[in-house]
Amino acid sequence: MKKLNLAIIGQGRSGKDIHGKYYISDKNVYYNIKYVVELDEHRREVAKEMYPGCEVLSDYKELFNKKDIDLVVNDTYSNLHFSITKELLENKFNVLCEKPFVRNRYECDVLENTAKENGVVLAVFQQSLYSPMYQDALRIVNDKVVGEPLQISIRYNGFSRRWDWQTLQTRMAGNVFNTGPHPLGIALGLLNFDENWELKFGSVQLSPLSSGDADDYCKAIITAPNKPVVDVEVNSTDAFSTYNIKIQGTRGTFQATNTNWKMKYIVDGENPEQPVKKDFLVNAKGNPAYCSEKLISHEEEGEYNGTAFDVGTANLYKDLYFKITEGKEMYVNVDKARHTVRLIEQLQSLSKAHVKYL
Ligand SMILES: NC(=O)c1ccc[n+]([C@@H]2O[C@H](COP(=O)([O-])OP(=O)(O)OC[C@H]3O[C@@H](n4cnc5c(N)ncnc54)[C@H](O)[C@@H]3O)[C@@H](O)[C@H]2O)c1
Repeated sequence: MKKLNLAIIGQGRSGKDIHGKYYISDKNVYYNIKYVVELDEHRREVAKEMYPGCEVLSDYKELFNKKDIDLVVNDTYSNLHFSITKELLENKFNVLCEKPFVRNRYECDVLENTAKENGVVLAVFQQSLYSPMYQDALRIVNDKVVGEPLQISIRYNGFSRRWDWQTLQTRMAGNVFNTGPHPLGIALGLLNFDENWELKFGSVQLSPLSSGDADDYCKAIITAPNKPVVDVEVNSTDAFSTYNIKIQGTRGTFQATNTNWKMKYIVDGENPEQPVKKDFLVNAKGNPAYCSEKLISHEEEGEYNGTAFDVGTANLYKDLYFKITEGKEMYVNVDKARHTVRLIEQLQSLSKAHVKYL
Protein backbone atom coordinates (compact mmCIF):
# COMPACT_ATOMS: atom_id res chain seq x y z
CA MET A 1 0.00 0.00 0.00
CA LYS A 2 1.34 3.41 -1.00
CA LYS A 3 1.94 5.65 1.99
CA LEU A 4 0.79 9.27 1.85
CA ASN A 5 3.21 12.08 2.63
CA LEU A 6 2.04 14.13 5.57
CA ALA A 7 2.91 17.56 6.95
CA ILE A 8 1.76 18.62 10.40
CA ILE A 9 1.62 22.18 11.74
CA GLY A 10 1.95 22.32 15.53
CA GLN A 11 3.74 19.96 17.90
CA GLY A 12 2.01 20.64 21.19
CA ARG A 13 -0.01 18.40 23.46
CA SER A 14 -2.17 17.30 20.54
CA GLY A 15 0.28 17.53 17.61
CA LYS A 16 2.99 15.58 19.41
CA ASP A 17 1.17 13.48 21.98
CA ILE A 18 -2.00 12.48 20.09
CA HIS A 19 -1.18 12.74 16.36
CA GLY A 20 2.57 12.16 16.74
CA LYS A 21 2.04 9.19 19.04
CA TYR A 22 -0.11 7.62 16.32
CA TYR A 23 2.43 8.42 13.55
CA ILE A 24 5.19 6.51 15.33
CA SER A 25 2.92 3.61 16.36
CA ASP A 26 2.51 0.23 14.63
CA LYS A 27 -1.01 1.27 13.65
CA ASN A 28 0.33 3.88 11.22
CA VAL A 29 0.79 1.96 7.98
CA TYR A 30 -0.67 4.84 5.95
CA TYR A 31 1.47 7.98 6.36
CA ASN A 32 5.08 9.17 6.04
CA ILE A 33 5.86 12.16 8.23
CA LYS A 34 7.56 14.38 5.69
CA TYR A 35 7.34 17.92 7.17
CA VAL A 36 6.81 19.29 10.66
CA VAL A 37 6.04 22.99 11.04
CA GLU A 38 6.46 24.47 14.49
CA LEU A 39 7.14 28.00 15.74
CA ASP A 40 9.12 26.79 18.73
CA GLU A 41 12.74 25.77 18.14
CA HIS A 42 12.90 23.18 20.91
CA ARG A 43 9.77 21.49 19.58
CA ARG A 44 11.30 21.44 16.08
CA GLU A 45 14.39 19.70 17.47
CA VAL A 46 12.25 17.14 19.30
CA ALA A 47 10.33 16.50 16.05
CA LYS A 48 13.57 15.73 14.15
CA GLU A 49 14.28 12.93 16.61
CA MET A 50 10.73 11.73 16.86
CA TYR A 51 10.12 11.42 13.09
CA PRO A 52 13.49 10.44 11.56
CA GLY A 53 13.98 11.89 8.07
CA CYS A 54 11.35 14.60 8.38
CA GLU A 55 12.14 18.20 7.44
CA VAL A 56 11.29 20.81 10.06
CA LEU A 57 10.07 24.30 9.19
CA SER A 58 9.08 27.35 11.21
CA ASP A 59 6.58 28.93 8.80
CA TYR A 60 3.70 26.95 7.30
CA LYS A 61 3.80 29.17 4.19
CA GLU A 62 7.02 27.32 3.29
CA LEU A 63 4.77 24.33 2.56
CA PHE A 64 3.11 26.14 -0.32
CA ASN A 65 5.87 25.43 -2.84
CA LYS A 66 6.36 21.77 -1.83
CA LYS A 67 5.12 19.29 -4.40
CA ASP A 68 5.41 16.09 -2.35
CA ILE A 69 2.63 16.55 0.22
CA ASP A 70 -0.59 14.52 0.23
CA LEU A 71 -2.08 15.81 3.48
CA VAL A 72 -1.51 18.74 5.85
CA VAL A 73 -2.70 18.51 9.46
CA ASN A 74 -3.59 21.83 11.07
CA ASP A 75 -2.88 21.39 14.79
CA THR A 76 -2.30 25.02 15.72
CA TYR A 77 -4.12 27.17 18.29
CA SER A 78 -7.87 26.95 17.82
CA ASN A 79 -8.31 30.56 16.65
CA LEU A 80 -5.97 29.78 13.73
CA HIS A 81 -7.89 26.78 12.44
CA PHE A 82 -10.05 28.70 9.97
CA SER A 83 -7.47 31.04 8.46
CA ILE A 84 -4.64 28.52 8.11
CA THR A 85 -6.95 25.77 6.80
CA LYS A 86 -8.38 28.18 4.22
CA GLU A 87 -4.91 29.13 2.98
CA LEU A 88 -3.90 25.47 2.77
CA LEU A 89 -7.01 24.56 0.78
CA GLU A 90 -6.43 27.50 -1.57
CA ASN A 91 -2.95 26.10 -2.16
CA LYS A 92 -4.55 22.79 -3.16
CA PHE A 93 -3.63 20.71 -0.13
CA ASN A 94 -5.87 18.07 1.42
CA VAL A 95 -6.33 19.22 5.02
CA LEU A 96 -7.16 17.55 8.32
CA CYS A 97 -8.16 20.28 10.78
CA GLU A 98 -8.12 19.74 14.55
CA LYS A 99 -11.20 20.44 16.61
CA PRO A 100 -12.72 22.91 17.33
CA PHE A 101 -13.10 22.95 13.56
CA VAL A 102 -14.26 26.56 13.08
CA ARG A 103 -16.07 29.29 15.00
CA ASN A 104 -19.42 29.20 13.20
CA ARG A 105 -21.47 27.75 10.37
CA TYR A 106 -20.42 30.53 7.99
CA GLU A 107 -16.73 29.62 8.36
CA CYS A 108 -17.65 25.96 7.87
CA ASP A 109 -19.44 26.78 4.61
CA VAL A 110 -16.52 28.91 3.41
CA LEU A 111 -14.03 26.09 4.00
CA GLU A 112 -16.28 23.48 2.42
CA ASN A 113 -16.66 25.63 -0.71
CA THR A 114 -12.94 26.39 -0.80
CA ALA A 115 -12.16 22.66 -0.69
CA LYS A 116 -14.66 21.97 -3.48
CA GLU A 117 -13.35 24.79 -5.68
CA ASN A 118 -9.80 23.48 -5.31
CA GLY A 119 -10.71 19.81 -5.70
CA VAL A 120 -9.19 18.75 -2.37
CA VAL A 121 -10.29 16.84 0.72
CA LEU A 122 -11.26 18.67 3.90
CA ALA A 123 -11.50 16.52 7.04
CA VAL A 124 -12.11 17.30 10.69
CA PHE A 125 -10.33 15.66 13.60
CA GLN A 126 -13.31 14.70 15.79
CA GLN A 127 -11.70 11.43 16.81
CA SER A 128 -14.10 10.73 19.70
CA LEU A 129 -16.67 9.75 17.05
CA TYR A 130 -14.32 6.90 16.12
CA SER A 131 -13.80 5.71 19.71
CA PRO A 132 -14.90 2.26 20.90
CA MET A 133 -17.09 3.92 23.58
CA TYR A 134 -19.02 6.06 21.09
CA GLN A 135 -19.39 3.32 18.49
CA ASP A 136 -20.72 0.97 21.20
CA ALA A 137 -23.17 3.59 22.51
CA LEU A 138 -24.39 4.16 18.95
CA ARG A 139 -25.09 0.44 18.63
CA ILE A 140 -26.94 0.41 21.98
CA VAL A 141 -29.14 3.28 20.74
CA ASN A 142 -29.77 2.02 17.21
CA ASP A 143 -30.30 -1.65 18.14
CA LYS A 144 -32.45 -0.63 21.14
CA VAL A 145 -30.34 -2.88 23.38
CA VAL A 146 -31.82 -1.35 26.57
CA GLY A 147 -35.14 -0.68 24.87
CA GLU A 148 -36.25 2.52 23.21
CA PRO A 149 -33.84 5.24 24.41
CA LEU A 150 -35.63 7.83 26.56
CA GLN A 151 -32.69 9.88 27.79
CA ILE A 152 -29.00 10.03 26.97
CA SER A 153 -26.75 11.78 29.47
CA ILE A 154 -23.24 12.77 28.46
CA ARG A 155 -20.72 14.03 30.99
CA TYR A 156 -17.27 15.34 30.13
CA ASN A 157 -16.80 16.78 33.59
CA GLY A 158 -13.94 17.11 36.02
CA PHE A 159 -12.74 19.05 39.00
CA SER A 160 -9.61 20.92 37.99
CA ARG A 161 -8.29 24.37 37.17
CA ARG A 162 -6.76 25.68 33.91
CA TRP A 163 -4.68 28.77 33.23
CA ASP A 164 -3.28 28.13 29.73
CA TRP A 165 -4.46 29.61 26.42
CA GLN A 166 -7.39 27.19 26.57
CA THR A 167 -8.98 29.68 29.01
CA LEU A 168 -8.95 32.60 26.58
CA GLN A 169 -11.85 33.65 24.36
CA THR A 170 -9.44 35.33 21.94
CA ARG A 171 -7.92 31.88 21.29
CA MET A 172 -11.39 30.34 20.71
CA ALA A 173 -11.08 28.41 23.94
CA GLY A 174 -13.16 27.47 27.00
CA ASN A 175 -15.02 24.24 27.69
CA VAL A 176 -17.56 24.64 24.87
CA PHE A 177 -14.99 25.20 22.12
CA ASN A 178 -12.27 23.00 23.56
CA THR A 179 -13.84 19.89 25.10
CA GLY A 180 -17.30 20.55 23.65
CA PRO A 181 -16.73 19.07 20.16
CA HIS A 182 -16.36 15.63 21.77
CA PRO A 183 -19.52 15.39 23.93
CA LEU A 184 -21.61 17.67 21.72
CA GLY A 185 -20.56 15.72 18.63
CA ILE A 186 -21.41 12.49 20.45
CA ALA A 187 -24.81 13.96 21.45
CA LEU A 188 -25.66 14.77 17.83
CA GLY A 189 -24.22 11.45 16.66
CA LEU A 190 -26.46 9.52 19.06
CA LEU A 191 -29.39 11.46 17.56
CA ASN A 192 -28.05 10.10 14.25
CA PHE A 193 -27.31 13.69 13.16
CA ASP A 194 -31.04 14.32 12.79
CA GLU A 195 -31.49 17.44 10.63
CA ASN A 196 -34.18 18.69 13.00
CA TRP A 197 -32.31 18.62 16.31
CA GLU A 198 -32.92 21.56 18.60
CA LEU A 199 -31.10 23.04 21.55
CA LYS A 200 -33.93 23.22 24.09
CA PHE A 201 -31.89 24.61 26.97
CA GLY A 202 -28.37 25.87 27.37
CA SER A 203 -26.31 27.46 30.10
CA VAL A 204 -22.70 28.53 29.57
CA GLN A 205 -20.80 30.18 32.40
CA LEU A 206 -17.37 30.85 33.87
CA SER A 207 -16.82 29.73 37.46
CA PRO A 208 -14.22 31.34 39.76
CA LEU A 209 -12.23 28.08 39.51
CA SER A 210 -10.66 28.79 36.12
CA SER A 211 -8.33 31.59 35.01
CA GLY A 212 -8.86 33.52 31.80
CA ASP A 213 -12.18 34.70 30.42
CA ALA A 214 -13.62 31.68 28.63
CA ASP A 215 -16.39 29.42 29.95
CA ASP A 216 -15.74 26.40 32.15
CA TYR A 217 -19.36 25.29 32.69
CA CYS A 218 -21.80 24.16 30.02
CA LYS A 219 -25.17 22.46 30.23
CA ALA A 220 -27.10 21.65 27.07
CA ILE A 221 -30.40 19.86 26.54
CA ILE A 222 -30.85 18.75 22.94
CA THR A 223 -33.50 16.67 21.24
CA ALA A 224 -35.09 15.92 17.87
CA PRO A 225 -38.58 14.77 16.83
CA ASN A 226 -39.27 11.22 18.13
CA LYS A 227 -35.74 11.00 19.51
CA PRO A 228 -34.49 10.80 23.12
CA VAL A 229 -33.65 13.80 25.27
CA VAL A 230 -29.89 14.35 25.32
CA ASP A 231 -28.45 16.02 28.39
CA VAL A 232 -24.82 17.17 28.06
CA GLU A 233 -22.46 18.70 30.62
CA VAL A 234 -18.92 19.97 30.16
CA ASN A 235 -18.16 21.25 33.62
CA SER A 236 -14.84 21.87 35.41
CA THR A 237 -16.34 22.01 38.93
CA ASP A 238 -17.88 18.53 39.08
CA ALA A 239 -15.93 16.51 41.65
CA PHE A 240 -18.18 13.46 41.34
CA SER A 241 -18.60 12.52 37.71
CA THR A 242 -18.72 8.76 37.19
CA TYR A 243 -19.56 8.21 33.54
CA ASN A 244 -19.19 9.71 30.07
CA ILE A 245 -22.33 8.29 28.46
CA LYS A 246 -25.48 6.96 30.13
CA ILE A 247 -28.44 5.69 28.10
CA GLN A 248 -31.73 5.19 29.92
CA GLY A 249 -34.00 3.08 27.75
CA THR A 250 -37.46 1.62 28.23
CA ARG A 251 -35.94 -1.69 29.39
CA GLY A 252 -32.88 -0.60 31.35
CA THR A 253 -29.69 1.43 31.49
CA PHE A 254 -26.32 1.39 29.75
CA GLN A 255 -23.41 3.35 31.16
CA ALA A 256 -19.88 3.84 29.82
CA THR A 257 -16.59 5.57 30.37
CA ASN A 258 -13.79 5.67 27.81
CA THR A 259 -12.50 2.39 29.22
CA ASN A 260 -15.46 0.43 30.69
CA TRP A 261 -19.14 -0.20 30.18
CA LYS A 262 -21.96 -1.85 32.09
CA MET A 263 -25.68 -2.34 31.61
CA LYS A 264 -28.68 -3.62 33.52
CA TYR A 265 -31.90 -4.49 31.73
CA ILE A 266 -35.06 -6.56 31.81
CA VAL A 267 -36.17 -9.02 29.15
CA ASP A 268 -39.71 -9.00 27.78
CA GLY A 269 -41.93 -11.66 29.37
CA GLU A 270 -39.74 -12.35 32.41
CA ASN A 271 -41.61 -9.93 34.65
CA PRO A 272 -45.37 -10.38 34.05
CA GLU A 273 -47.27 -7.13 34.44
CA GLN A 274 -48.44 -6.41 38.00
CA PRO A 275 -52.18 -5.80 38.09
CA VAL A 276 -52.67 -2.17 39.13
CA LYS A 277 -54.28 -1.50 42.54
CA LYS A 278 -56.63 1.46 42.84
CA ASP A 279 -56.59 1.56 46.67
CA PHE A 280 -53.85 1.38 49.34
CA LEU A 281 -51.24 -1.37 49.53
CA VAL A 282 -50.66 -3.56 52.60
CA ASN A 283 -47.84 -5.91 53.59
CA ALA A 284 -48.22 -9.44 55.01
CA LYS A 285 -49.03 -7.97 58.43
CA GLY A 286 -51.71 -5.74 56.98
CA ASN A 287 -49.62 -2.59 57.49
CA PRO A 288 -49.18 0.22 54.88
CA ALA A 289 -46.72 -0.83 52.16
CA TYR A 290 -44.88 0.44 49.09
CA CYS A 291 -44.59 -1.45 45.80
CA SER A 292 -41.86 -4.01 46.32
CA GLU A 293 -40.79 -7.00 44.24
CA LYS A 294 -37.71 -8.83 43.00
CA LEU A 295 -37.44 -7.62 39.41
CA ILE A 296 -35.79 -10.21 37.17
CA SER A 297 -33.01 -8.24 35.50
CA HIS A 298 -29.72 -8.98 33.75
CA GLU A 299 -26.34 -7.32 34.20
CA GLU A 300 -23.38 -7.24 31.84
CA GLU A 301 -20.12 -5.35 31.89
CA GLY A 302 -16.90 -5.14 29.94
CA GLU A 303 -13.86 -3.14 28.90
CA TYR A 304 -13.07 -1.27 25.71
CA ASN A 305 -9.95 -2.11 23.75
CA GLY A 306 -8.87 1.53 23.49
CA THR A 307 -9.97 5.13 23.76
CA ALA A 308 -10.60 8.12 21.52
CA PHE A 309 -6.92 9.01 21.82
CA ASP A 310 -5.42 5.79 20.49
CA VAL A 311 -8.02 3.67 18.67
CA GLY A 312 -10.16 6.70 17.75
CA THR A 313 -7.17 8.51 16.26
CA ALA A 314 -6.01 5.44 14.32
CA ASN A 315 -9.52 4.78 12.97
CA LEU A 316 -9.93 8.37 11.82
CA TYR A 317 -6.58 8.43 10.03
CA LYS A 318 -7.42 5.11 8.32
CA ASP A 319 -10.82 6.48 7.23
CA LEU A 320 -9.08 9.58 5.86
CA TYR A 321 -6.52 7.50 3.96
CA PHE A 322 -9.29 5.76 2.01
CA LYS A 323 -11.09 9.07 1.44
CA ILE A 324 -7.96 10.54 -0.15
CA THR A 325 -6.90 7.46 -2.10
CA GLU A 326 -10.28 5.93 -3.10
CA GLY A 327 -12.82 8.70 -2.48
CA LYS A 328 -14.69 6.67 0.18
CA GLU A 329 -16.99 8.77 2.38
CA MET A 330 -15.64 9.30 5.91
CA TYR A 331 -17.78 8.64 8.98
CA VAL A 332 -16.98 12.16 10.20
CA ASN A 333 -17.51 14.35 7.15
CA VAL A 334 -17.94 18.11 6.92
CA ASP A 335 -21.74 17.78 7.12
CA LYS A 336 -21.50 16.05 10.49
CA ALA A 337 -18.86 18.51 11.69
CA ARG A 338 -21.19 21.36 10.66
CA HIS A 339 -23.88 20.05 13.03
CA THR A 340 -21.41 20.27 15.92
CA VAL A 341 -20.28 23.74 14.83
CA ARG A 342 -23.90 24.95 14.70
CA LEU A 343 -24.59 23.63 18.20
CA ILE A 344 -21.44 25.26 19.55
CA GLU A 345 -22.38 28.53 17.84
CA GLN A 346 -25.77 28.46 19.56
CA LEU A 347 -24.23 27.71 22.95
CA GLN A 348 -21.63 30.47 22.53
CA SER A 349 -24.45 32.95 21.96
CA LEU A 350 -25.74 32.08 25.47
CA SER A 351 -22.38 32.46 27.20
CA LYS A 352 -22.22 34.63 30.29
CA ALA A 353 -18.42 34.78 30.11
CA HIS A 354 -17.29 38.28 29.13
CA VAL A 355 -14.10 39.08 27.21
CA LYS A 356 -11.32 40.25 29.55
CA TYR A 357 -8.17 39.52 27.53
CA LEU A 358 -7.27 40.53 23.99
N1 LIG B 1 -8.71 16.14 19.51
C1 LIG B 1 -8.29 16.20 20.76
O1 LIG B 1 -8.58 15.33 21.57
C2 LIG B 1 -7.44 17.38 21.18
C3 LIG B 1 -6.72 17.31 22.38
C4 LIG B 1 -5.92 18.41 22.71
C5 LIG B 1 -5.90 19.52 21.89
N2 LIG B 1 -6.65 19.55 20.76
C6 LIG B 1 -6.63 20.72 19.87
O2 LIG B 1 -5.34 20.80 19.29
C7 LIG B 1 -4.98 22.16 19.04
C8 LIG B 1 -3.63 22.44 19.70
O3 LIG B 1 -3.81 22.32 21.08
P1 LIG B 1 -2.59 21.88 22.03
O4 LIG B 1 -3.17 21.58 23.35
O5 LIG B 1 -1.78 20.85 21.33
O6 LIG B 1 -1.79 23.25 22.11
P2 LIG B 1 -0.27 23.49 22.62
O7 LIG B 1 -0.25 24.81 23.24
O8 LIG B 1 0.18 22.32 23.43
O9 LIG B 1 0.54 23.49 21.26
C9 LIG B 1 0.22 24.31 20.18
C10 LIG B 1 1.44 24.28 19.29
O10 LIG B 1 1.10 24.88 18.05
C11 LIG B 1 2.23 25.66 17.66
N3 LIG B 1 1.77 26.68 16.73
C12 LIG B 1 0.81 27.61 16.93
N4 LIG B 1 0.67 28.37 15.85
C13 LIG B 1 1.55 27.91 14.93
C14 LIG B 1 1.89 28.31 13.61
N5 LIG B 1 1.27 29.32 13.00
N6 LIG B 1 2.84 27.62 12.97
C15 LIG B 1 3.47 26.59 13.56
N7 LIG B 1 3.20 26.18 14.81
C16 LIG B 1 2.26 26.84 15.49
C17 LIG B 1 2.75 26.26 18.96
O11 LIG B 1 4.08 26.72 18.84
C18 LIG B 1 2.60 25.08 19.90
O12 LIG B 1 3.75 24.26 19.90
C19 LIG B 1 -6.11 22.99 19.64
O13 LIG B 1 -6.96 23.42 18.63
C20 LIG B 1 -6.84 22.04 20.58
O14 LIG B 1 -8.20 22.34 20.70
C21 LIG B 1 -7.39 18.48 20.38
